[in-house]
Amino acid sequence: MSDFEYANAPESPAIANIASNYGLFIGGKFVQPKKGKSFNTINPATEEVLSKIGYADKSDIDAAVKSARSAYLKVWSKMPAKERGKYLYRIARIMQERAREFAVVETLDNGKPIRESRDTDVPLAAAHFFYHAGWADKLEFAGFGSKPKSLGVVGQVIPWNFPLLMLAWKIAPALAAGNTVVLKPAETTPLTALLFAEVCQQAGLPEGVVNIVTGDGVTGAALVNHPDINKIAFTGSTEVGKSIARAISGSKKTATLELGGKAANIVFDDAAIDEAVEGIVNGIFFNQGHVCCAGSRLILQENVAEEVLDKLKKRMSLIRVGDPMDKNTDLGAINSKEQLNKINEISNAGDKEGANRWSPELKLPSKGFWFPPTIFTGVTQSHRIAREEIFGPVLSVLTFRTPAEAIEKANNTMYGLSAGIWSDKGSKVLWAAKQLKAGVIWSNTFNKFDPASPFGGYKESGWGREGGRHGLSGYLTAEAKVNK
Ligand code: NAI
Ligand code: MG
Repeated sequence: MSDFEYANAPESPAIANIASNYGLFIGGKFVQPKKGKSFNTINPATEEVLSKIGYADKSDIDAAVKSARSAYLKVWSKMPAKERGKYLYRIARIMQERAREFAVVETLDNGKPIRESRDTDVPLAAAHFFYHAGWADKLEFAGFGSKPKSLGVVGQVIPWNFPLLMLAWKIAPALAAGNTVVLKPAETTPLTALLFAEVCQQAGLPEGVVNIVTGDGVTGAALVNHPDINKIAFTGSTEVGKSIARAISGSKKTATLELGGKAANIVFDDAAIDEAVEGIVNGIFFNQGHVCCAGSRLILQENVAEEVLDKLKKRMSLIRVGDPMDKNTDLGAINSKEQLNKINEISNAGDKEGANRWSPELKLPSKGFWFPPTIFTGVTQSHRIAREEIFGPVLSVLTFRTPAEAIEKANNTMYGLSAGIWSDKGSKVLWAAKQLKAGVIWSNTFNKFDPASPFGGYKESGWGREGGRHGLSGYLTAEAKVNK
């Protein structure tokens, strides 16, 4: 390596007007939680407290659901669809206008690099509102029958890895289909959802159509169990997803669940190796590997394994780890101490079970939560690092000799959210894609998202789809879906 170094290019936090405390957003206003409880949200890169957040309990959830029900009955379900669409357009435009502010707040609260929040999270979130704005007055032409009907009040619980983007995935289709919502952001990343509440006010969205209640898993469970909710939309761990499925069984509530993953990224020996290496890096190190569809199992054809791993290690040595607010940073902070502990625990199991750990040499900041980009070679299918979702910048490498073996290894998982195929031969890509049990399959690319494209899993990766026409159908009644 030469001595050439980038100068720091820090984004200014000045644009973010983070209040010292936030209430709950219910009925179009910020209100204090009834019991007056609160919790802190911190910047995981510095461990500094960013703000004090209202903690919603059962009684606050009840107030939020009542507000959503009243808005549904009196306003939103009666409004002509094209008027609903206008609100969604307005929200999308305001998000674009305030994009820089959203990106800065997201990076401060989550720890992800500003480059990613600025270029991925925020533009995609706005794109989801634009896309669904267009659907609002066209539902009757979407093949769901001539009179598609909304469900009513939707409870939505989202995780911390893409806070604003997951909010957009949830709220945009729900509103376009004519539902009202109560959304609970994750406890470590509530700030962009609260900023979004301000956008709803700015857009003049009728009060109660969107309610944001902050809190933890107990708050989420209170929302799931509220009797006046018609549907639950959840993204998060498979464990909580299962508990939600149990909680709503026997009720009339429906659910979409976007859960974990352990995606195979398969590299065949005829692949363009340099491109595949970029795709491997993007697949596992994007967003610190806090990605449900991350390419966390690299499945390499044996005769190119050495070449790919050599190039991958060289490329990993160039990954810039550190201050998420620096525009040159590639890998930011781990979102929380709990998540860092989990990554350490499973990686240590990898050492104990006999796999070989490698990371480039680098100095991690002393404050905050950090984990270096890491690969494990010599991994077998029974290792925990090959089976469990690590949800961090850790790649497990397996090898194969024949295409059939690649498919067998790729499908040997309880998950089935995504997969990647790297090959020069279209026929091989199509052959492999057909056999892979995964909801999303990328070929010669990875982690590409579009609001028009449905996303969701097989097996323990979840129920239902989000995005596109398929995602919309999850926010309409069963009668509406009969003629699908
Ligand atoms: P989690 O599933 O506990 O949290 C996700 C959301 O669900 C948060 O808003 C949380 O407050 C809420 N929640 C927790 N318990 C709940 C309950 N009983 N009822 C309703 N809502 C509840 O995930 P956590 O603890 O943050 O992460 C644990 C692991 O889950 C991660 O290490 C990762 O492997 C996986 N995960 C997967 C995600 C994905 O996108 N597939 C996202 C986040 C976590
Ligand atoms: Mg935070």
